[in-house]
Amino acid sequence: MSSNLPIGIFDSGVGGLTVMRAIASRLPAESLLYLGDTARVPYGNRSPQTIRRYAVNATTMLRDEGVKAIVVACNTASAYALRALQERYDFPVLGVVDPVARAAAAATATGAIGVIGTRGTVASNCYLDALHALGVSDVIQKACPLFVPLAEEGWTQGEVVDAIARSYLQVFAGTAVDTLILGCTHYPLLADTIGRVFEETAGRSVRVLDSASATAIALSDELETNALGSPEAVGALRFCATDDPAQFAETATRFFGAHLTDVEHVDIRDVSHE
Ligand code: DGL
Repeated sequence: MSSNLPIGIFDSGVGGLTVMRAIASRLPAESLLYLGDTARVPYGNRSPQTIRRYAVNATTMLRDEGVKAIVVACNTASAYALRALQERYDFPVLGVVDPVARAAAAATATGAIGVIGTRGTVASNCYLDALHALGVSDVIQKACPLFVPLAEEGWTQGEVVDAIARSYLQVFAGTAVDTLILGCTHYPLLADTIGRVFEETAGRSVRVLDSASATAIALSDELETNALGSPEAVGALRFCATDDPAQFAETATRFFGAHLTDVEHVDIRDVSHE
């Protein structure tokens, strides 16, 4: 495996750009190839079998382009497909669940951690299992499906978002939760609102953690362990989407924090039965 190759990052759509942004900032020498499966987004409400099929197809596309490692930036795909991908490919495949679970377990003072994510992520219990394995037994989860369309539409503040957040987050009132994992690529855009509404609803402060920076640190460690760090400071960024590139670029600005001018359209084959 050549260390000159880019790192592949895939997500169901634009949300994984929050993870790519953290990786680009932590590992500026690395070239990154992003694939947003916008033709099939959202993954969050789909069946485990369908999510695994989409994840295998997306990862195969990235492998065929030539990558030295893959980051599954999508929480839902990490929840259902990570193990299958790790068994199928001979390069490192990282998910976003374990890194932030470790950060949350290290951060909590009360030993109680909250997790919010898509329906699929919450139903998979992937965070619950990861936190239990780290010795945290008090875990409260809540699916917050409306946060995804709100983030995509740029509705991150205001009365409507506050009302929705209050309705979701009231489950944490009366609990000892002091650390909240944003278990979805989109939620970092709503982090300020989520933190404030949590504190108003629960009446105490909370530490809000997202997967992006924890995953960037885990990736950096993985590259070092496998001697895969880029020998040259290239840092080229490439963006691909399976649906309209212009629409991807428009929404991407909010997630990546920079305007994307060059998004390529790609088709991906169904290789899940090969
Ligand atoms: N990327 C997904 C996740 O992090 C959210 C969007 C979707 O449902 O596809 O779970």
